[in-house]
Amino acid sequence: MAYMHRSSLDSLPGYKQGRPAPVTPGLNPYKISSNENPYPPLESVRRAVADRALVHLNRYPDMRGTALVERLARLHQVEPENIQLGCGSTEVITQLVNLVAGEGDEVIYPWRSFEAYPIIVTGAGATCVPVPLNAEGRHDIDAMIAALTDRTRLVIVNNPNNPTGTSVSTDEALRLLEAVPEDVLVLFDEAYFQFNDDPDQAMGLQLRQEHPNAVVARTFSKAYGLAGLRIGYAVAPAEVVQGLGKVALPFGVSDVAQTAAMVSLDVTDQLQERVDGIVRERAKVVTALEGQGWRIPCSRANYVWLPLGQATDPAYEQFQAQGLSVRAFSGEGIRITIGEAEANDRVIRVCASLRDQGLAR
Ligand SMILES: Cc1ncc(COP(=O)(O)O)c(C=O)c1O
Repeated sequence: MAYMHRSSLDSLPGYKQGRPAPVTPGLNPYKISSNENPYPPLESVRRAVADRALVHLNRYPDMRGTALVERLARLHQVEPENIQLGCGSTEVITQLVNLVAGEGDEVIYPWRSFEAYPIIVTGAGATCVPVPLNAEGRHDIDAMIAALTDRTRLVIVNNPNNPTGTSVSTDEALRLLEAVPEDVLVLFDEAYFQFNDDPDQAMGLQLRQEHPNAVVARTFSKAYGLAGLRIGYAVAPAEVVQGLGKVALPFGVSDVAQTAAMVSLDVTDQLQERVDGIVRERAKVVTALEGQGWRIPCSRANYVWLPLGQATDPAYEQFQAQGLSVRAFSGEGIRITIGEAEANDRVIRVCASLRDQGLAR
């Protein structure tokens, strides 16, 4: 049916969700396509959700998420006025783009990076300014600075970058912040910061002390393992948080999600042990792949990137055939989430086979 709509959206590719694990006879299937945490929720989180949130399903949630906002403010030593919740950090980023950029405005972001960025920017009616990563799969800070114009309304830093896993250093972030006008916001999307063991990594929360135009987005989806509940947050100047509240989806963040997030903050040590285990598994995979002759970007996240170029699609089929759903970006490469030890061991075997076929780079 023909219908009146914004034709500027016609060419926009929709968000592609990581595929479920393929069913392969004789093999445990593994979904390692969405950078999720392989561990199930902690018992304490499950119990709190059952006891304190499921009993209120007939009620709307607290739209501001007051208790969680206050808890996060204490954690980050900011005021509650500096915290905004969203349905995952995807919604927080969407709120921010909708707040600052519309028709004729530009949003700069690294590319390839989180695939939601162009969707969100185009959805807001603003103009995407993707800046290619450098040869090491890292942010090209000079090129990002060169892309600034009078129409720039937001600059996004993805640290560590999805899908390459590379980290942005404090010096690089400072160089960028010093080049961006003070009234233009710089978003530090830190969805995976807990996995980042680079001692030089830029931390948005510290940077915003000297640069109030720095905004930080974080999520409970990855290290906290709550991807299915959809909850994330921003730390931003109070004026920005007020604006974000205006464009937020009303009642978007459920009481179940708020409760689970609150409890998760109380068991951060237990969750950190899981993160440390994933980081150790990542080191195992990286060491094995490098030993096989792969040259891959230095990952500081819970995934690794195989820059396969034109070999991406055939390589993807081989992972699928081994019961592994990975995330392929046709013509570019494959992102593999660090999952259960058995999944990671199988990844190493498939990579050895790809190498033997001459597909490794
Ligand atoms: C870089 C990056 N930012 C933000 C998100 C959003 O996560 P969520 O909306 O689940 O908080 C993701 C999810 O994959 C991501 O990779």
